[in-house]
Amino acid sequence: MSEETPMVGKSVVTLDGLSTNQILDLLHKAEYIDSHRKEIAHTCDGRVLATLFYEPSTRTRLSFETAMLRLGGKVIGFAGAQLASVTKGESIADTLKTVSNYVDVVAIRHPKEGAALVASRAASVPVINAGDGGHMHPTQTLADLATLQSRFGRITDLTVGLCGDLTFGRTVHSLIETLCRFGNVRFVLISPDELKTPQYVIDRINATDSCSYVEVRDLASVIGDLDVLYMTRVQKERFFNEDDYLRLRDTYILDEEKLQLAKPSMAVLHPLPRVNEIAVDVDDDPRAAYFEQVKNGMLVRMALESTVVGDELPGYEPLNPK
Ligand code: CP
Repeated sequence: MSEETPMVGKSVVTLDGLSTNQILDLLHKAEYIDSHRKEIAHTCDGRVLATLFYEPSTRTRLSFETAMLRLGGKVIGFAGAQLASVTKGESIADTLKTVSNYVDVVAIRHPKEGAALVASRAASVPVINAGDGGHMHPTQTLADLATLQSRFGRITDLTVGLCGDLTFGRTVHSLIETLCRFGNVRFVLISPDELKTPQYVIDRINATDSCSYVEVRDLASVIGDLDVLYMTRVQKERFFNEDDYLRLRDTYILDEEKLQLAKPSMAVLHPLPRVNEIAVDVDDDPRAAYFEQVKNGMLVRMALESTVVGDELPGYEPLNPK
C-alpha cells in the first residue's frame, strides 16, 4: 500500500496506488458530477483520451469515451487490435511510447495480466487500467463502491457475498482488495471448487484484522445473511477447456424465487455482461443495482479522467482537503 502522492499525472493500474482518501474523494467527485453536468461540461476542453482495447468491451470502453466527451475532451483509439500495429508485432511499450505523443491520458484493456503496468511504465502520460486479464479492474471497483455508497450510505460494515467465477473474475479481486483497505467487511465467497478465490486475494483478507471470510458452494443457504450479492459471469474466454466451461457456466442462476430468501434491503450487483446468472425477471426487483453500477461507471471515470489530467471541476470542494 502506498503513501499518498498527488493524483495529477498518475497512472492507475490498481487502486492500491491511491490512498483511501483519494478513493473517497473520487466517489465524492462522481456524485458532484452527476448533479452538476452543465457546470462541468468544459472541464477537459482541449484534452484527448486514447482507448486502447485489445479485448472486447461494451461498458468500460464506451463509458471511458463518454466520460471524456462529457467533460469537453476528445477521444481516439481502437477497439480490437486487429487494425492496430500490434498485428505487425509491435510491443505494448512501443505502442504506449507512440500514443503518449498524441494524447493526455490512456485507458488500456488487455487480456494479459500485467499489461497495464507495462503500459504505464512506457507511457509519458497517465495510463488507466481498464482490465488486465484475470488480474484487476480498478475503475469497475470505483463503480461498485459508488453503488454501495449510494445504496447503503457506506462502504464498510457490510456482509458481501461474491458468487460465481471467483478465480478469473478480475472485478471480484479488485473489489475484495479495495474493501479490505476500508475494513469491517464479512466476505461470503460462493463458488464451485474449480472457481475459488485465488490465494493472493484470500491472503489480503487474512491480513486485514477487521475482515473475515467463509467459502461456500451453495447460494441459497447464505443469501439471507447478505447485504450485497455480487454476481459474476463464468469467464469463458479465460478457460483452457470448453467442457469445463460448459459444466460450470450455469452453476448459479439468481431468479426471483431465490431472491425471496434475501433481505429486502440486499443489493444485487454484477459488473456485466451477464449470460444466464441473473434471470431478467430480477431486473424489475428494487434490489437489482447493476444498471446503477453502469451509470456510476461513467461518473467515476469522469472523476478519474479529470483528476489525472489535472483539470479541476468548476465549483468542486474536495473531501478532506489537505
Ligand atoms: N464491466 C465490464 O468490464 O464490462 P465490459 O466488458 O462490457 O467493459
